[in-house]
Amino acid sequence: MKVSDAILGRRSMRTFRSDPVPRADVEWIVDHARRAASNGNLQPWHLYVTTGAARQRLVDAILAAIDAGEPTAREYGVYPAVFRPPYDERRKTVGKQLYGVLGVPKGDAAGMARQFRRNYEFFGAPVGMILCIDRDMGQGQWLDCGAFLDQIMLLAREKGLHTCAQGAFGPFHKIIKRLLGIPEDRIVLCGIALGYADENEPPNNLVTERAPAADFATWLDS
Ligand SMILES: Cc1cc2nc3c(=O)[nH]c(=O)nc-3n(C[C@H](O)[C@H](O)[C@H](O)COP(=O)(O)O)c2cc1C
Repeated sequence: MKVSDAILGRRSMRTFRSDPVPRADVEWIVDHARRAASNGNLQPWHLYVTTGAARQRLVDAILAAIDAGEPTAREYGVYPAVFRPPYDERRKTVGKQLYGVLGVPKGDAAGMARQFRRNYEFFGAPVGMILCIDRDMGQGQWLDCGAFLDQIMLLAREKGLHTCAQGAFGPFHKIIKRLLGIPEDRIVLCGIALGYADENEPPNNLVTERAPAADFATWLDS
């Protein structure tokens, strides 16, 4: 597979088939992802891969916490404190498009909550990963973890698999750490759903927009 095909074929999938993913394929993805570049080769990522009963325990515990209305707190801000153009519009647009293809009308808070809850089932994916970083790492290492995350998502394509990165797991870091044995001095960056996507499902066919390169790339030739 060409790198460009992996990049163009990747999109966030939000409905997965329950078909199991061969353990060897997951190991291959993780083993190749470790080749990600990192500042000073610190390799600051920590990855927890759950399948089977371990994945189910995590899903059940988070859903039970939601149902019980347990308080949550984020360890880091996934968005800027203040949304301003063009970022506010981009976020609104993708939300509108996603709930549009899902048939959840504007203002249907219950419908939106139902869909958001699917995050905590890894959207049905049989492999649920949690990406962490040590709390004392600097901003450069967060950048490295982003590169690592992308490697996982692109390598998955080569095995016919799809992914969805999931910041939604952040607020449940206490439960996640307790169940997965993650030390308190690590921050839960995000979850990653990994599995075979049901490509016929409407949310999986949402191809999100991107600004043209001219909007963000500055060329300096002379
Ligand atoms: C770090 C990160 C966290 C994300 N968290 C979530 C999430 O919690 N739930 C979700 O449905 N999508 C999540 N996404 C997916 C984004 O919404 C998606 O990448 C964006 O809309 C662009 O769409 P695409 O991935 O299909 O190209 C996340 C993506 C990233 C990179």
